[in-house]
Amino acid sequence: MPEEPKIRTIKLGLLGCGVVGGGLVKLIEKHRADFRANGFDLQLTHLAVRDTAKDRGVDLSGVEVTTDPIAVANDPAIDMLVEVMGGNAVAVEAGCAALARGIPLVSANKSALARSMGRYAEAAKQGNTGICFESAAAAHIPIIEVLDRSLACEELTLIKGVINGSTNYILTFMERAGCEYEDALKDAADKGFTEADPSLDVEGIDAAEKLTLLAFKAFGAYVPPSQVHTEGVTQIGQVDIRLALELNHRIKLVAAARRGEDGLTLRVHPALVHRGELLADVDSEFNAIILEGPGFKELTFLGKGAGEFPTASAVLNDIVKMVRQPGTSTLPGFVRAAQDNSLADTSSLKLCYFVRLQIEPENANDVLTALAKLDLQVLSHAQIEYEGRNYLGVITDVLEESRMMAALKDIGNIQGLGQAPKFLRLDKDNYRDIVEREQSTYFGSSLER
Ligand SMILES: NC(=O)c1ccc[n+]([C@@H]2O[C@H](COP(=O)([O-])OP(=O)(O)OC[C@H]3O[C@@H](n4cnc5c(N)ncnc54)[C@H](OP(=O)(O)O)[C@@H]3O)[C@@H](O)[C@H]2O)c1
Repeated sequence: MPEEPKIRTIKLGLLGCGVVGGGLVKLIEKHRADFRANGFDLQLTHLAVRDTAKDRGVDLSGVEVTTDPIAVANDPAIDMLVEVMGGNAVAVEAGCAALARGIPLVSANKSALARSMGRYAEAAKQGNTGICFESAAAAHIPIIEVLDRSLACEELTLIKGVINGSTNYILTFMERAGCEYEDALKDAADKGFTEADPSLDVEGIDAAEKLTLLAFKAFGAYVPPSQVHTEGVTQIGQVDIRLALELNHRIKLVAAARRGEDGLTLRVHPALVHRGELLADVDSEFNAIILEGPGFKELTFLGKGAGEFPTASAVLNDIVKMVRQPGTSTLPGFVRAAQDNSLADTSSLKLCYFVRLQIEPENANDVLTALAKLDLQVLSHAQIEYEGRNYLGVITDVLEESRMMAALKDIGNIQGLGQAPKFLRLDKDNYRDIVEREQSTYFGSSLER
C-alpha cells in the first residue's frame, strides 16, 4: 500500500457566516477530498457572528462561535483569517490585528479594503504577510489575479465595466417591465438583490469602492472612493430608458478608470451604451469588465458579480492559493513603479452626450436648429411621447465635459421647452464612427466632418 501523504491542517478563523460565509462553509466540505489530494486540509476552528443562536443550515460542530471578531483575529490557534462580515471599523481592526501578527487575510469586504487600504498594507508589512481579495472586486470574475499576475507588466489605459449587479438588475427591470425606478428598486429589494442599505448600490458607492480596488491593481494608484466621481441611478426615469432605446442604446451604470494625457480619471455614472457593444448586453446580476491597453487593444471578462456561490468560490480559491503558495498576496502583490498618478478633473473628459428635452412635437426642428446655433453637433435624435408629454433625445458629437455643462445653461433658455434639459454621458467618445458605419451600411454614404 502506498503511504498516505502527510496532511497539513490549516486552521481558519471566519468572520461572518451570512450569504458568503455560509456558502464558504458548504464549499469547504464539498472540496475536502481535493484539498487532501493536495496534501492539506482546511479546518474551520473559530467563527464570529452577531447572533450565535441563529441556525445557519451548515455544520458548525467543533467550531468555537463568538460575537467578538477581534478575539477571533487575535486567537493564537488560527493560521488564516477570512473576513466575510462587511462593515468598516470592526472589520478593519480585526483584519489588521491578524495581519500585524503574521496571519494572512482573505477578505471579500470591498468597502473596508477600499477605504482603509493604507492601514491594511501597513499591518501586512508589519506582520510580513499579505491579503488576497479576489471576491471583493467582481466576485467570480478573476480580474484581480489577471491584473496582479497575468498582466502585471502590461501597459493599461482603461479599465471599465458594469460592476454592480443590483443597479444592473434595476435598470434591466425598468426596461423590461416599463416601470419607474421606485418600482424596480422595490422588486430588487424584495428579491434580495440590494444591500440592507440600498443607497450603497443605487448611489454608486459600491461600484466606486470596487473601482478603487481595480484601479489600484491596474495603475498602482490608490484613489479612495471619496475621490471617485460618483453618480447613481436614482434619477434615471422610464422616459430616459425609452429615449435611449429609440436611439439604439441601453442605460448602464458604468465604472471607468482611465489613464489619459492629463492624468487619471475615476468615475461611476449612468451611461448610454450602444447596443452593438458587449456592455449593453450585460444584464441583471452579471458583471463585465473591459481592459484596454496599447499592446493588446482590448480584453473582456464576463461573469457573475455577486451571489452565494460565485462569491464564496472566489473566497475559497484565494484561501487555497495562499495555502499552496505561502507568501502569495494581492496586497502588496505586484507593485507597479510610480507613474504620474495625479487625478485629472472629470470636466476635462471628452465624451459624447445624450440630452433629453421636453418639447412640443411641432417645435422639434426649431429646437434642433437652436442646438446647432449653440455649436452642438447633433449626431442623432429621436422623439417619443410618454405619459402625454413629448420628448426629444439628442446625442452630441464629442466635446469636453466643461463645454457640455456650459451649453446646458444655454439649452435651458431655448424657447418652448418644458422641464429643464437633462444630460447623461455616453459610454464612449466614438459615436460618430458608429453612426457613420450604420449610415454607410444603409445608404453607402458618410457624414460630413
Ligand atoms: N453577497 C454577495 O454577493 C457579495 C459579493 C461580493 C462581496 N461581498 C462582501 O462580502 C461581505 C459579506 O457579505 P454577505 O452578503 O455575506 O453579508 P451578510 O449575509 O449580511 O452576512 C454578514 C455576516 O457577518 C456577521 N456580522 C456582521 N457584522 C458583525 C459584527 N460586527 N460582529 C460579528 N459578526 C458580524 C453577520 O452575523 P449574523 O448572521 O449573526 O447577523 C453575518 O453572519 C461583505 O463585505 C460584502 O460586501 C458580498
